[in-house]
Amino acid sequence: MDNSIGVGLIGTGYMGKCHALAWTGVKAVFGDRPRPRLVHLAEVDAGLAARRAEEFGFERSTVDWRVLVTDPDVEVVSITTPNAFHAEMAVAALEAGKHVWCEKPMAVTLADAERMTAAARASGKTAVLGYNYIQNPMIRQIGAILAEGTIGTVNHVRLEMDEDFMADPEAPFFWKNELAAGYGAIDDFGVHPLSLLQVLFGLPSRVFANLSKPYPDRPNREGGRRSVENWDVSSILFELGPEISGLMALSRTAWGRKGRIALQIFGSKGSIAYDQERLNELQLYVTSDKPSEQGFRTILSGPRHPPYDRFVPAAGHTLGFNDLKIIECHELLRAIAGEPARVIDFESGLQIEQAVHAMGQSHREQRWVEID
Ligand SMILES: NC(=O)c1ccc[n+]([C@@H]2O[C@H](COP(=O)([O-])OP(=O)(O)OC[C@H]3O[C@@H](n4cnc5c(N)ncnc54)[C@H](O)[C@@H]3O)[C@@H](O)[C@H]2O)c1
Repeated sequence: MDNSIGVGLIGTGYMGKCHALAWTGVKAVFGDRPRPRLVHLAEVDAGLAARRAEEFGFERSTVDWRVLVTDPDVEVVSITTPNAFHAEMAVAALEAGKHVWCEKPMAVTLADAERMTAAARASGKTAVLGYNYIQNPMIRQIGAILAEGTIGTVNHVRLEMDEDFMADPEAPFFWKNELAAGYGAIDDFGVHPLSLLQVLFGLPSRVFANLSKPYPDRPNREGGRRSVENWDVSSILFELGPEISGLMALSRTAWGRKGRIALQIFGSKGSIAYDQERLNELQLYVTSDKPSEQGFRTILSGPRHPPYDRFVPAAGHTLGFNDLKIIECHELLRAIAGEPARVIDFESGLQIEQAVHAMGQSHREQRWVEID
């Protein structure tokens, strides 16, 4: 039996390389899945496509992604293009009978996210979104701590996601500043904290959002200026049912913050704190400690936090961002095999999109919006 799976990759930028590394590494790290065969790669420029195919180890390349999704040797398609292309590409790949691994955010409009979910349902194929942060062994450990009741009953969750790639007012306009990419900080960013909420607690039942645009225009390539179309900063109140209140703050203009996803969870018997900028550790405070010795303790990732052990046998040697993508790729392959998998598929991803658009509606109407 041919124990391999044919891979197609659309887009070879930041995330394209990340997917290529994941497809390359997953067999060596986990061992138990079909060997990915890097078959076909698509880019907008023929020279770039050929160069990336050579660098990433793909057999052939094209400038026409439709040729890739109908290639009979391709069984699963990685979609790593800008947000506006996700729906069209994912639906075409599913209709061609391929499994899909699509980067977040799922789509720009709710109608497109619904169309993608319907296509996944109709195809019977596996369709998974690129929510890599849920794969961190430390996030899994936070889930285990919550399930064991170590910090008691949770009453408040606070999330911040900050980066500074748009912090310079003179940073050039690019596709993420267009309305075609979505609301800005919420879909570019907020979907990641939402994915953490989804796996740890479930999604908010209602939201109140305020979006802001610190810099109304930016220099464009032609030497002029172009209006920024979406919102770089968002402040959101939310509720996880009647018992747990929450606060989420998002900014792409936060100087000094490079990849912060700060999560604080407060319970009746303790607290948990985590920051993606220190993704190999979490902080735990428990009231059961001797009063004179109470304080946050740091728990460092190691082989006791699976699947860390698949990468390195020694504790404290740390995993990185690309390793989370290898874990995600492994979970995708488990889902394709029909096994239980820790993934955000299109059905769950649609719920995240519903929360995103509820936030957009809340900002427009300046009121709480309930989420079904
Ligand atoms: N999961 C994460 O942590 C994470 C991080 C960054 C970006 N993303 C997501 O990944 C996606 C891509 O972002 P990026 O930062 O990699 O962007 P990027 O600009 O670095 O790369 C996008 C690539 O897609 C190519 N492309 C565009 N249109 C194409 C087409 N029609 N056919 C083939 N190739 C095409 C571009 O030429 C470019 O090389 C976005 O949806 C973004 O939200 C996810």
